[in-house]
Amino acid sequence: MIRLGRHGKGTIRAVNCTLKGLVLAGGKGSRLRPLTATGAKQLVPVANKPVLFYALEQLVDAEVTEIGIITGDTADQVMDAVGDGSAFGASVTYLPQPAPLGLAHAIITAESWLGDSPFCMFLGDNFLGGGIESYTARFRDQPCAAQILLRRVDDASSLGVAVLDPDGRVLRLVEKPREPISDLAVIGVYYFGPEIHQITPALVPSARGELEITDAIQALIDAGLEVRAQTVADDWIDTGKKDDMLEANRLILGSLQRRVEGHVDTESTLIGPVVVESGASITGSTVRGPAVIGAGTSVRDTYIGPFTAIGPDCELSGCEIEHSIVLERSIIRNVERRIADSLIGREVVVERSPLRPQAIRLLLGDHSRVDVV
Ligand code: TTP
Repeated sequence: MIRLGRHGKGTIRAVNCTLKGLVLAGGKGSRLRPLTATGAKQLVPVANKPVLFYALEQLVDAEVTEIGIITGDTADQVMDAVGDGSAFGASVTYLPQPAPLGLAHAIITAESWLGDSPFCMFLGDNFLGGGIESYTARFRDQPCAAQILLRRVDDASSLGVAVLDPDGRVLRLVEKPREPISDLAVIGVYYFGPEIHQITPALVPSARGELEITDAIQALIDAGLEVRAQTVADDWIDTGKKDDMLEANRLILGSLQRRVEGHVDTESTLIGPVVVESGASITGSTVRGPAVIGAGTSVRDTYIGPFTAIGPDCELSGCEIEHSIVLERSIIRNVERRIADSLIGREVVVERSPLRPQAIRLLLGDHSRVDVV
């Protein structure tokens, strides 16, 4: 059992202390290679907007504007994309984490910046459909050592789950349960009071070598402090893998409104909610929404199907694509078979080759995946 010092049981915390935001944008991103070999996974666009931006916007919507961002190897890219935070209505401080040693290690990294402030920790690759305003208001109104958000899932075997007592108090957390003890998964938005800083120094690395946030929360429970849970009904996606990215893309595009700022010729048909950004051109093509075509992208003699987000400055001609994400400056040309369920990185070229002998010629990064029919 971990003993608590100055913030322990019975101490009174200043409730009007500013609630800060701590967004985690470091990590290894190994499940999303090769995209993350060179780029931050939190910057992979969902409906043409980096997934990290949704977290920042939701924090600001909940009036959390003093935000620290934990960064790792991709710090420069994250700093370029977010800047000083003023574009989001926030003031952002960057907190470099020396190595991706776990979510609880990120709190240690941020400790001096956080000071005694309560904070909302938001994993920068997590997407939460309905925002966080009500959960944040609850934590502000009724502070406690930790407030976690739970989501009912069909299969919790690869997730952290919470076991609750009949009054909804958190009894314990279990990482990747072997037995189905709970279907309430812990999602990537957490609220902490300053008590957590009394816990983190005593944590030891788990079997995977990380300081686990579930161990830190369990230690708060074991110390007799109040750890509260709120169950979330909205969509939640941990976008760590390709299919999760596509699912987040599908969800966000699902509420798209039609907006056409680029050029669409008379030979083309747009069906349903389609966004054509300015400077994009659609020629002799069919786009069936929901779909978004990025600024400066050219689409010619092509079919773009539902739930597809094409980034800026791409070139698509003589191809069919649906339920996919294509990042900026990529080219897809004269590919006969329909491309589906795909996540295509930046400046990628996919094209039919006139070369003989006919063959599939590949130049792929480490951990790439190609499914050929
Ligand atoms: P994870 O997805 O749990 O970890 P990871 O980024 O190392 O990914 P993978 O499992 O694919 O290798 O991390 C959740 C979020 O927290 C993500 O935005 C990365 C961030 N993070 C940090 O900032 N520091 C860390 O030490 C860890 C582990 C994650």
